[in-house]
Amino acid sequence: MDVAGFALITGAASGIGRACAQAFAREGSAGIALLDLNEEALSAVKAEIDDELRAQQNGSTGSQPCRVEIYSVDVTNEDLVNRVVAEVAEKFGRLDYVVNAAGIAIKHQGGAAFATTADWHRVIDINLTGTFFVLRAAAKIMLKQEPITSAIDGRPLQRGSIVNFGSIQGVVGITLSTAYTAAKHAVVGLTRTASEDYAQDGLRINAICPGYTETPMTTKNPQVLKAMEERVASAVPMRRMGNAREIADGVLFLAGGRSSFVTGSALMVDGGYTSR
Ligand SMILES: NC(=O)c1ccc[n+]([C@@H]2O[C@H](COP(=O)([O-])OP(=O)(O)OC[C@H]3O[C@@H](n4cnc5c(N)ncnc54)[C@H](O)[C@@H]3O)[C@@H](O)[C@H]2O)c1
Repeated sequence: MDVAGFALITGAASGIGRACAQAFAREGSAGIALLDLNEEALSAVKAEIDDELRAQQNGSTGSQPCRVEIYSVDVTNEDLVNRVVAEVAEKFGRLDYVVNAAGIAIKHQGGAAFATTADWHRVIDINLTGTFFVLRAAAKIMLKQEPITSAIDGRPLQRGSIVNFGSIQGVVGITLSTAYTAAKHAVVGLTRTASEDYAQDGLRINAICPGYTETPMTTKNPQVLKAMEERVASAVPMRRMGNAREIADGVLFLAGGRSSFVTGSALMVDGGYTSR
């Protein structure tokens, strides 16, 4: 997938972020920095990946293992985000790919009329403002670094690539999701405007928009899961939920050299949900 450089992934302790971390490591990235609130789960993800890389190395010789660094970070903490993104870039020597997967989902019982201000702020702060903080800190660094050569057929060089997490709710509304849908629409808007700012500089910025995907976000509450399964059966043309690896594959495509002419896009990975 042409992701040989260094990646920074937020929300990497669980679900799709974790699948992205595993995918970059498997595809031969030189290093991955994993950021999340949940330090214990981050350590477990690092151990899993290190084990997998060690097992791979026993089978072959000479390949350089992927460096895995973990950072306990709340993406809403502006100063901490600035510090950690700079530290990662310094440690690795550069920062090639950023994946903004940290996020939360809240349903407002009774809908928009009853959504609490606290819930509104929490979702907007993490899903939108957190994405902006990481994007801004990374873009400043990426714009100053030399472009890397794509491993694929001499395509134009890439200085960096940022993948933000939208959702199907970045382009359509779903009931009881006032703050989440507003935040995800805004992430798609942030992606479009920022991508245009830097399109000529070799910095690409795209969004990935997953549909219903099996992760702790969707499966940990049996009631939410049941409602979702009913919805999937009636509204998703493929009649199933996605798995986190299927979303990570879309992220690899957007991050790496195979999407060299793609910027400002919102890639739907949703089993056909938004095509209806
Ligand atoms: N699962 C789905 O069906 C689905 C669908 C569309 C979009 N998404 C989006 O995909 C992304 C990943 O979701 P997931 O399903 O893997 O969820 P998840 O709950 O499994 O993982 C989210 C991770 O983000 C971390 N996180 C939350 N708040 C944070 C903060 N303030 N700072 C740092 N880390 C924080 C959590 O600790 C967790 O590890 C989210 O942006 C989500 O909105 C998910």
